[in-house]
Amino acid sequence: MSRSDAWVTEVQVCPSILAADFGAFRAQVRDLMDAGARTFHVDVMDGHFVPVITFGHEVVSALADDVHDRGGSLAVHMMVEQPERFAAEYAKAGADSFTIHIEATRDIHLALQIVEESGMIPGVTLNPATPVSAVAEAARYARNLLCMSVSPGWGGQKFIKATTDRLPELRKLARPDAGVEADGGIAAETIVEVYKAGANRLTAGSAIYKQPDPGQAYLDLVEQVRAAGATIA
Ligand code: DX5
Ligand code: ZN
Repeated sequence: MSRSDAWVTEVQVCPSILAADFGAFRAQVRDLMDAGARTFHVDVMDGHFVPVITFGHEVVSALADDVHDRGGSLAVHMMVEQPERFAAEYAKAGADSFTIHIEATRDIHLALQIVEESGMIPGVTLNPATPVSAVAEAARYARNLLCMSVSPGWGGQKFIKATTDRLPELRKLARPDAGVEADGGIAAETIVEVYKAGANRLTAGSAIYKQPDPGQAYLDLVEQVRAAGATIA
């Protein structure tokens, strides 16, 4: 694993720009980088796999130079049918990882292979009611296992408790060079239990960007995880 990939396995709080001001992504990402954040979670939704449409690879292009110049990464979460169709354009736009839903593609092995060949870190994710065993084989080929802790489609939902039973199972399936990410409802009340259950990539939208001081909210979350024993990258 090269240094440039090490961020996958580090413990990190990853701001999700879904909760940011859509008219000011660059400034909102810069502010969080000033506070120390380095991995930004980018939620792409297509209006089919989930009822909502967000944005596409142009947003990745718009952020890539700023984030990469400061040693950061853009982690794309595709809530899109047959997401492998878009791998090449996201790689070209500057996405570092590309995480796809097991429910959204017919051949997850082929899809992850396409992602890997495009030069991005391949990740697989699953909806809250999809059994963890559904990704047991895909986990051989993935470097990010993302556990949805809400139904995909919207920020600001309530954390699903069963996530803390699912994360240890996902951690068992993860390769040594893979990260385990939790996404949805991660906030002051939930972040420590999620970290203790086996997630090292702790993605938070509303708990950062919907707060009066997003940089401080990020730092407070980092501090909680650090106090629970994590070494934060
Ligand atoms: C939900 C997205 C999440 C979302 C989380 O479909 O995948 O990444 O940004 O938002 P919060 O942290 O507000 O639950
Ligand atoms: Zn997401």
